[in-house]
Amino acid sequence: MAVKIGEHIDLGKFPLLLAPMEDVSDPPFRYVCKQNGVDMMYTEFISSEGLIRDAAKSKQKLDIFEYERPIGIQIFGSDIESMRQSAEICTLAHPDLIDINYGCPVKNVACRGAGASLLQDIDKMVAMTKAVVDATPLPVTVKTRLGWDDNTKNVYEVAERLQDVGIKALSIHGRTRAQMYKGQADWSMIRDIKRNPRIQIPIFGNGDVDSVEKAAAWRMEYEVDGIMIGRASIGYPWIFREIKHFFETGERLEGPTIDERVEVCKTHLIKSIEWKGDKTGVFEMRRHYANYFKGIPNFKEYRTKLVGLGDPSEILEVLEEIKEKFGEDIVHFPVNDF
Ligand SMILES: Cc1cc2nc3c(=O)[nH]c(=O)nc-3n(C[C@H](O)[C@H](O)[C@H](O)COP(=O)(O)O)c2cc1C
Repeated sequence: MAVKIGEHIDLGKFPLLLAPMEDVSDPPFRYVCKQNGVDMMYTEFISSEGLIRDAAKSKQKLDIFEYERPIGIQIFGSDIESMRQSAEICTLAHPDLIDINYGCPVKNVACRGAGASLLQDIDKMVAMTKAVVDATPLPVTVKTRLGWDDNTKNVYEVAERLQDVGIKALSIHGRTRAQMYKGQADWSMIRDIKRNPRIQIPIFGNGDVDSVEKAAAWRMEYEVDGIMIGRASIGYPWIFREIKHFFETGERLEGPTIDERVEVCKTHLIKSIEWKGDKTGVFEMRRHYANYFKGIPNFKEYRTKLVGLGDPSEILEVLEEIKEKFGEDIVHFPVNDF
């Protein structure tokens, strides 16, 4: 049966979602993920206070493109009225849905009463969610964690109460706030929620999926409606097509060739420049090169060149050199090589 968010978003049988990631899931990166079969994507998180103040950085994150659909805009904040107003602002950008971040663990978000901090005050979280649901005709979804810490793993209650105020899907990262990104994600509470007969909305599992094998195993073991992938897609957007291919055919697709890696990296760079301009586009692309070419022996020399250049045409030339140098030596890396 197809997974649906609200009445209109049909995600097919077992969707793969790109996790919202600050400084990563921007339009250029989303472009290469979309080319590689992701079923739904989110913007980076956007500060509700920034949106209301009309801050340029927050506003720019509202940029979405038709080919990206279905896409959600993710917001965070600590003040209910600001969240309500920012839901109205996001609605005007015409995303397919609005997602609320109740998972961010970093200090300057969670310690200012936003993100995962709301896991310590479920009444406020419910009131905030209801305010956002009432402020927009779009479906509202939530992304959160298991709880604040080991003693307060309250996501089971959170799921029921947020469904009751009208959210249309819930993504759960299988860690507490206290864990940050340490230890292993534990999806067993996610399965408990899926088995709760009261829960009708789609439940997406998130945390540590980094291979075709794990996606297949955890799909069965934890009974989720879909999987959200973050870090494993950075420099490796092929993970979506590889998992999808496996689910559709039961066969492993080969990893990308060096030529493909170069081509996708080039596309990412070009989109980055188109959207951000030469200077910022080139600068912000620097964090991605090592990821695109992870696993290539003696790549350091090329990485140093790539991150040292400012002229886009010179960077494109170096990328071509990489094809010539490595294209014949190394055909592909399997996805779980990193
Ligand atoms: C660089 C980075 C930025 C992130 N930014 C966000 C964000 O803006 N909003 C959000 O809900 N989660 C954010 N996260 C958390 C991810 O969405 C995801 O929950 C987490 O990385 C676990 O999934 P993974 O193991 O597949 O990466 C971020 C994670 C990373 C690594």
